[in-house]
Amino acid sequence: MNHFPKDFVWGVATAAAQIEGAWREGGKGLSIWDTFSRRPGAVAGGDTLDTACNHYHRWPEDLEIIKQLGVKHYRLSLAWPRIQPDGLGAANPEGIAFYRKLLAALKVAGITPQVTLYHWDLPQALEDRGGWLHRDTIDAYVRYAEICYEAFGDLVDNWTTFNEPWVFTFLGYAFGVHAPGLKREEWGFQAAHHVLIAHGRAVSALRKRLPNAKVSIVLNHSAARRKSDSEADRRAEVLYDLHGLYLFLDPILRGTYDPALEKEMRRRGVFPKVEAGDFELIRGDLDALGLNYYMDHVVWSGPDGLSVQVAVGPNPEKTAMGWSSYPEGLFEILEKTSMRYPGLDLYITENGSAWDDTLVEGRVDDLKRTAYLEDHLRQVGLAIAAGIPLKGYYAWSLMDNFEWAEGYAKRFGLVYVDFATQKRTIKASGHRYAQIIAQNGL
Ligand code: FCB
Repeated sequence: MNHFPKDFVWGVATAAAQIEGAWREGGKGLSIWDTFSRRPGAVAGGDTLDTACNHYHRWPEDLEIIKQLGVKHYRLSLAWPRIQPDGLGAANPEGIAFYRKLLAALKVAGITPQVTLYHWDLPQALEDRGGWLHRDTIDAYVRYAEICYEAFGDLVDNWTTFNEPWVFTFLGYAFGVHAPGLKREEWGFQAAHHVLIAHGRAVSALRKRLPNAKVSIVLNHSAARRKSDSEADRRAEVLYDLHGLYLFLDPILRGTYDPALEKEMRRRGVFPKVEAGDFELIRGDLDALGLNYYMDHVVWSGPDGLSVQVAVGPNPEKTAMGWSSYPEGLFEILEKTSMRYPGLDLYITENGSAWDDTLVEGRVDDLKRTAYLEDHLRQVGLAIAAGIPLKGYYAWSLMDNFEWAEGYAKRFGLVYVDFATQKRTIKASGHRYAQIIAQNGL
């Protein structure tokens, strides 16, 4: 079962807002999550991002842990409000200096960074002007991207424009459970459309400025398991993939929304405002696509025979997030994606699980996380053996961190963080991952 090519990318992932803390240090501006987390009831336990893992100060120690795990690829994100505090004005030299220090240290350690420009922490000042519902945010994002290309282009070859646009546009603007907490279905689609334009323009800007760099976008998707083989349920599965994944990939790679999806959006009255020329801006080549995979969903057709009903997958043992694990689904979404968009290099940019870990005498024996990791890596091996162009895998996450609306109670790390003392402890799953990396396979 050891199908891993010699150059397979083994990585770990984090995101700035979830680990850095130092929310008002180094000239950083406020992000929508700083604001949202202060809204009563928005985040479990009233947790905020103020200190998080204090990675802003403890990054040298965290880098040592990455080295200790033998990880050679680190997926991280830049905090827009740290680099450009109000999202519009001049760059903040202290923010740039922080990331340059970190990136330079990664380079010395022989660790390749995979840098995400946007992992959900929009400057609050931009949200005050309408955030992703406003086209001006597109211009602001492209300027921010250019600042980053200029500031870090000598240290970064692999860029990701956005992390999980489905999640931050729909959970943020349609369902109100993530920042900025707005609730109108059509706003989700409009925000998504604007994000697509911002992606396309940032890719063009990158090609101009850093022609040798590689660019990707990271999308999340779950495996759809239709309730029955009825025509209506088959259609529900198709719509689930269209809305969850192809809503973003089709405009980027084909220059249009899928006709069946467009019909459905129009039927629901949620088709976004599209201006002439938008699709030319969005369409572009990607060097790679990152997929974040965690779980399966059961899907079936609603009573009107048209809409999609979605429920948590059938695995009786749910993770601490209440998610159903379905390792085969990782293979399935890779297969679907590679069939629809042949020739595109794929990465699993996040995969992992939260469990109620306990630290006992300096050890965390997280057997369930370890099993989840191994089961999913077996599917990675199968995908490679099946000829799917899967080039790498990043575990979510390096360490326990701020899990958005769930706060600090949900732990995804390979490394345990005691948030009272900030002490880090490599969990059994982390040791196992190190071993898998060292032998380049299970
Ligand atoms: C993904 C996010 C990531 C993390 C995991 C558990 O949706 O990209 O930041 O919270 O889920």
